[in-house]
Amino acid sequence: MDADAQKKAAGEAAAEMVETGMVVGLGTGSTAAWFVRALAARRLDVTCIPTSVATAELAESLGLKLTELGPVKSIDLTVDGADEIGPALSLIKGGGAALLREKLVWEASRRCVVIADAAKRVPMLGKFPLPIEVVAFAHETTALRICDALSECDLGVAPRLRVKDGAPVRTDGGNLIYDAACGRIEDPAALADALKSVTGVVDHGLFLDLADLALVGTPQGVVTLEP
Ligand code: A5P
Repeated sequence: MDADAQKKAAGEAAAEMVETGMVVGLGTGSTAAWFVRALAARRLDVTCIPTSVATAELAESLGLKLTELGPVKSIDLTVDGADEIGPALSLIKGGGAALLREKLVWEASRRCVVIADAAKRVPMLGKFPLPIEVVAFAHETTALRICDALSECDLGVAPRLRVKDGAPVRTDGGNLIYDAACGRIEDPAALADALKSVTGVVDHGLFLDLADLALVGTPQGVVTLEP
């Protein structure tokens, strides 16, 4: 079973957890897209809250009913992918630049399920560069402050502005993304606090104590993990 087949299997397993009448948070990325397709195929009467424009477009094209977080205060179940799954279901997310909306939706959810292929599991977070969303104004200055915050956590790395096709990547909210190739994040909670204290940082891709369950596709089938 290749990585995409593992992602599909995890997405389909998560879709089986959805019940009629639920408000469902829809993640972003290729694994979350498999969940969206599987959910749409079940033709349940559910209302969905997407975490990105891309997911909203996919869900809408498949006939899923959409609403927004804000008017709706609480989400029954959110299903989303991840870039890394570490100990106790600590996560790195944001490879798809949707981390802010994802975190807003996750934090409003009664239950969060992360879906992934087996390669996403790691003994320690940090191999995948940590995405950090910053406001565009004076972002070069913010990047220097991020460097200081990383140094405080014994991480001597310089964050790099994410660029695609020669232009800085903009999030759905119009912000920029810096990626910090930390290598090993020994204390994710301390790093999360240090990054949030930097003016100009909107949020970062460390999702700690948020995932309730992981469904991981493996060559042997879908494995369930708890924190
Ligand atoms: C989106 O911003 C990310 O958090 C994605 O959930 C993450 O990058 C996983 O993407 P894939 O499912 O495409 O691997």
